[in-house]
Amino acid sequence: MNARHPQDLPLAAAAPLRDALGRPLRDLRLSVIDRCNFRCGYCMPRESFGPDYPFLPASERLGFDEMLRLARGFVALGVEKIRLTGGEPLLRRGLPQLVERLAALRTPNGQPVEIALTTNGVLLAAQARALRDAGLTRVTVSLDALDDALFRHLSGADLPVARVLDGIAAAQAAGLAPLKVNTVVERGVNEGEILPLVRHFRGSGVALRFIEYMDVGGASAWDRGRVVSADEVRARVAAEFPLRALPGADGGRDGATAQRFAHADGQGELGFIASVSQPFCGDCSRARVSSDGRLYTCLFATRGLDLRPWLAPDSDPEALQQLLATRWARRDDRYSERRAEAPARRYPTVRMSLVGG
Ligand SMILES: C[S@@+](CC[C@H](N)C(=O)[O-])C[C@H]1O[C@@H](n2cnc3c(N)ncnc32)[C@H](O)[C@@H]1O
Ligand code: SF4
Repeated sequence: MNARHPQDLPLAAAAPLRDALGRPLRDLRLSVIDRCNFRCGYCMPRESFGPDYPFLPASERLGFDEMLRLARGFVALGVEKIRLTGGEPLLRRGLPQLVERLAALRTPNGQPVEIALTTNGVLLAAQARALRDAGLTRVTVSLDALDDALFRHLSGADLPVARVLDGIAAAQAAGLAPLKVNTVVERGVNEGEILPLVRHFRGSGVALRFIEYMDVGGASAWDRGRVVSADEVRARVAAEFPLRALPGADGGRDGATAQRFAHADGQGELGFIASVSQPFCGDCSRARVSSDGRLYTCLFATRGLDLRPWLAPDSDPEALQQLLATRWARRDDRYSERRAEAPARRYPTVRMSLVGG
C-alpha cells in the first residue's frame, strides 16, 4: 500500500471509528524489537533465523519519541490498551522509560490507557519491579513446557524453565496481576505438557491459556495436522479437572479471543484460544505496528503501511490521526475466517517476530 500525502486524506470521523466490517479500534500491539533470545520453532525457527539473519539495525527501529507520537494518534482514535511485544520486548533497552511515557497517556474521556506486555519471561525477574513502577498494568508470559529438556528444545535457549518461573513469581510479587501464561500446543510435540501446566498453575493466581498453533509468518513447518484444537485441549483438561464456563471473553476487553473457564473447585481460571478452529475475526479490534514502524491491520497481513513519515518531530499529529482513521475505515481483513473457507490455501504472511504476536 502506498502512503498518501496528509492533505489528500478526509477528516477523521467524529463518531466512533469502525472498520469496513463494523469493528472498532481498541487495541494497539506495538512491536518494540524484532530480535529474540529464543528460537521457537513456530515463530523463529533456527534454520530461517540463523546468525546471519538480517534483523533490523537499531537505527531502523522506531525510537521512543516516534512510538509516543504513534500511541497518541491511536489513543485519540479509541485505543484503550497498548500491548508491547516483539521479538522479545525485554531485549529493548530502556523499556521502563517507554512504559512510563505511555502510561501517562489518557483516552479522550480522561481514562488511563492500559499498558500490557507479552514476554518469554527469561528477563522478567530482573525487570518486573521497574516495569510495574513505570506503570505497566499486565503481563502475559509465554511458556510451552515445564519439562526442562523439552523447554530447551522448544525455545532453542540453553536455559532452565526456572528462569521463566522466577520471572512469573517476580511479576506477581511486583503486583502485576492477574498474570496470564500462554501455551501454544503442537501435536506430537508438547501435548504431554498440557496437564502438568494445568496442575502447576492451578491455585496460583495465574490464568493459563492454551493457543492453537497458527500459520503465521515464521511458522514454516505449519500444517493443519499439527494443530490441537482448543476443544480437544479443553476435553483433556476437563477429564482431570472439572471446568465451568465463564461468561464473556477476557471480560469483553481483549477482543473475544479466549474462551474462559474456571476450575469447578475454585482454583482459578483457564482460557482456550481457538484461532484456527473457530476464528474470531469478527471481534478483532487490534492494530499492529512493527518495530520498523509499519501498520498492519491483521496478524496475517502481507504488507504494512510505513508510518515513519508521519512520526517525525515536526510532523502534524492531526495528519497522523487522519491517516490512521482512513486506513482503519478501509480495513476488511478476516484472514482466519477465509482460511476456514479455503483450508488448502496458504497465504504468505509477515513474520510474527517483526509485527508482534
Ligand atoms: C511473537 S511472541 C512475542 C513476545 C514474546 N517473545 C513471547 O514469546 O511472549 C507473542 C506470542 O505469539 C505466540 N506465537 C508465535 N508464533 C505462533 C504460532 N505460530 N502460533 C501460535 N502462537 C504463536 C507466542 O507463543 C507468544 O505467546
Ligand atoms: S514466540 Fe516469542 S520467544 Fe518465541 S521466538 Fe517468537 S518472539 Fe521469541
